Amino acid sequence: MPKSMFLCPVCSEGLFFTEQGLGCKNGHRFDRSAAGYVHLLPANKKHSKQPGDDKAMCSARNRFLSGGFYAPLCQKLEQLTRKYAQPNMHILDAGCGEGYYTAAVYQAACEQGRSAQLAGIDISKFALKYAAKRLPQAEFAVASSYHLPLKNESVDLILNCFSPMASQEFRRVLKSGGHLFYVVPAPMHLWELKEALYSTPYQNKRQTIEYDGFRLEDVQTVESTIQLTDPQQIQDLFTMTPYFYKTPKEGQQALEQLQQLTVQIAFDIHIFSRS
Ligand SMILES: C[S@@+](CC[C@H](N)C(=O)[O-])C[C@H]1O[C@@H](n2cnc3c(N)ncnc32)[C@H](O)[C@@H]1O
Ligand SMILES: [Zn+2]
Repeated sequence: MPKSMFLCPVCSEGLFFTEQGLGCKNGHRFDRSAAGYVHLLPANKKHSKQPGDDKAMCSARNRFLSGGFYAPLCQKLEQLTRKYAQPNMHILDAGCGEGYYTAAVYQAACEQGRSAQLAGIDISKFALKYAAKRLPQAEFAVASSYHLPLKNESVDLILNCFSPMASQEFRRVLKSGGHLFYVVPAPMHLWELKEALYSTPYQNKRQTIEYDGFRLEDVQTVESTIQLTDPQQIQDLFTMTPYFYKTPKEGQQALEQLQQLTVQIAFDIHIFSRS
């Protein structure tokens, strides 16, 4: 079995697989949870009792993504992974959530007899419960993107979908010539949902982003329209967005009345290479 991609959060030595989880040569041990992830977030980096997305958000996102509504983005990420795939590729999904894109990228990396090793991290244990079940071939840890438990220059591809952009850490762990797929919402993403929630909705701003040590190779836009035909799907979409916590009662009530919703989805995938 290959070595773990993770480092010990206590002494920074490499971790190896044990029967119960992971361990380092200095005797630090990290048990695998029943769902299959390990906890590598030091207590002093945990800024709240339950950091990251909560149980309701994670189960809503898991249901919604499993419904295939964001399949066009998933397919584009698979296509891009094939383009950059190489034998024994090391992949990190930073802020991997429920592992929907993680699994697709891993499978694309493993096509044509190639092997790949993938580590997914998220600060929310609720998200990792789904991710570890979805992709048992990979390793998952509760950790922060701002303190990645990974070696310098050990990763060929970082996937970052709608999660915090920790550019310094991403630069540190990426190999020279490695790639970062950074997915953000494009201007019209979820426009009709926002129209239902707010009297004056705003488009997302499209920004040219520059990060030290990275060269922007390409931006791929994915656009589509989805039909939500069940109030549960509408509520799941709402619950998995940041609007869930900032929408006034009236907006939420207006949404609860909707029986169906046709909504645009639009994503920009920024493809960076480590220069
Ligand atoms: C919008 S979700 C996206 C999840 C997944 N990438 C997807 O696209 O389905 C953002 C994720 O980032 C996680 N997150 C927030 N802060 C984080 C941090 N500092 N380090 C790692 N993950 C973090 C949340 O727990 C959540 O799962
Ligand atoms: Zn250790």
